[in-house]
Amino acid sequence: MARLDIALAHSYRLLNHGPTVLISVAALGRRNVMAAAWCMPLDFDPPKVAVVIDKSTFTRELILAAGEFAISVPTRAMLPRVVAAGSDSGRDGDKFTALGIDTFAAQQISAPLIEGCVAWLECRVLPEAHNEARYDLFIGEVVAASADSRVFSDGRWHFGPDDDALRTLHHVAGGAFFVTGDMVTGQD
Ligand SMILES: Cc1cc2nc3c(=O)[nH]c(=O)nc-3n(C[C@H](O)[C@H](O)[C@H](O)COP(=O)(O)O)c2cc1C
Repeated sequence: MARLDIALAHSYRLLNHGPTVLISVAALGRRNVMAAAWCMPLDFDPPKVAVVIDKSTFTRELILAAGEFAISVPTRAMLPRVVAAGSDSGRDGDKFTALGIDTFAAQQISAPLIEGCVAWLECRVLPEAHNEARYDLFIGEVVAASADSRVFSDGRWHFGPDDDALRTLHHVAGGAFFVTGDMVTGQD
């Protein structure tokens, strides 16, 4: 085995392949959706998540106004729309209409949830002005969650051979993704 030194600028790529998600929000008479690869669980009870939302994004402007956002976990079948939602800005027009992204109502918040995804987390922002300003890091308390029972039940993901289109996306870099592979357990 040869151990390769990785440039610090690429070090994040060693951890980068958690599920890429769609962040959606509604406020100020607008709605929006963007892709985010930097989204992670932060706490169990009450459940919290952390997500990096850059200052340049329209999503951030709306989240600051709404105090809420939704996380939807998209699938392989949605890849072109995920990339487009992560490339275009909602400032230039409604991405849902432009990209043919359908939504449904959340249970607890005003943000729309994305149809065709396999999991949804509804979040209320826990304001942390310093982290938001300095690190673009937003913390949300999860106030409702749901998942597609075809691939998540009994508290875990289970992708089978017929579920290829439903597998989650894991961004590597530069527009390349892995899709969720085989499950292994500590007993394997
Ligand atoms: C795969 C992928 C992952 C991304 N991850 C993030 C992220 O974690 N945080 C972020 O601020 N932007 C991320 N982006 C960029 C935003 O999605 C992009 O800036 C988007 O156009 C913002 O849209 P908006 O201006 O409508 O909010 C990602 C883009 C792609 C394609």
